[in-house]
Amino acid sequence: MTKGRIFSGMQPSGRFHLGNYLGALENWVKLQRDYECFFSIVDWHALTSSYEDTSKIPERIHDMALDWLSAGLDPEKSVIFVQSHVKEHAELHLLLSMMTPLSWLERVPTYKDKLQQLGEQGKDINTYGFLGYPELMTADIILYKADTVPVGEDQLPHLELSREIIRRFNYLYQPIFPEPAGMLSKSSVLPGIDGRKMSKSYGNEIPFAGSAEEITARVRLMVTDPQRVKRTDKGNPDVCNVYTFHKLFNQEQCSEISIACRAAEIGCVDCKKRLAAQMVEQLAPMHEKRLELSAKPAMVAEILHAGAERARKVAQDTMAEVRSAMHLG
Ligand code: TRP
Repeated sequence: MTKGRIFSGMQPSGRFHLGNYLGALENWVKLQRDYECFFSIVDWHALTSSYEDTSKIPERIHDMALDWLSAGLDPEKSVIFVQSHVKEHAELHLLLSMMTPLSWLERVPTYKDKLQQLGEQGKDINTYGFLGYPELMTADIILYKADTVPVGEDQLPHLELSREIIRRFNYLYQPIFPEPAGMLSKSSVLPGIDGRKMSKSYGNEIPFAGSAEEITARVRLMVTDPQRVKRTDKGNPDVCNVYTFHKLFNQEQCSEISIACRAAEIGCVDCKKRLAAQMVEQLAPMHEKRLELSAKPAMVAEILHAGAERARKVAQDTMAEVRSAMHLG
């Protein structure tokens, strides 16, 4: 008996970082035990905000598969696949787009914000596809009739809209789809090295697959308690970003470090060295696995291929129901 069915996705938009790992993947790995899980690398979603140069997509999909598998997603337990390999996502997206009032899409809070934010960076995403982003996300979820959707807080408005679209479908045609609920993970917001949310767009990330040198160098750049200017000043771990990371990666030494920092017995340079060492150690088994997998690209491609086959079976059954409910061929 499982607790239900999960769908979640992630855009292959660049290097996977620790915020993605702790905010999502670590949780997905645990969910595999109790739920029937579908996890998708959503390459069509990546096009909604970056459609001009598509040449890096294959490489990014492969990298994301390596990250997911090395972090512990297990193709024996979960269906792991690439969105564009299952064309049913596009068909359902089209049908949903017919019945969704434009005002619902325009009112999503992230829509205008992101349009403006990317506009300022000189990116024009005033497109039909970007407006329809939540439509595609809805299709992803309901093709598998998922009832639970682990996401970051920023995605909750999209899920709310998904539920509205689903209610409309169920009312207009036939009640086929369950209304999915969002599931937030505990540490959904990991700070970056500057203390703001870890995000590639802020350039404050620590790469998940970074080498020991790279991780150590990023930790060295972390902001600490701004009041602690000199080595002899006493620090306050409660406002220190490095300490936030100690709590996540180095629980054992935490209380000792906190006391030493408050008494100015440990300096920030040493404190960061200890953190980096712990992070490198904890990431090591996953890095090793990633290295092994990266030597077998054909095997990784086969995992994604088999995942798409399994996903397609479910998606095809759902589409048969949808077409019948809508009197379509
Ligand atoms: N929009 C999500 C993000 O950028 C990715 C995504 C696409 C997704 N389809 C989904 C998440 C379906 C959950 C369910 O983070």
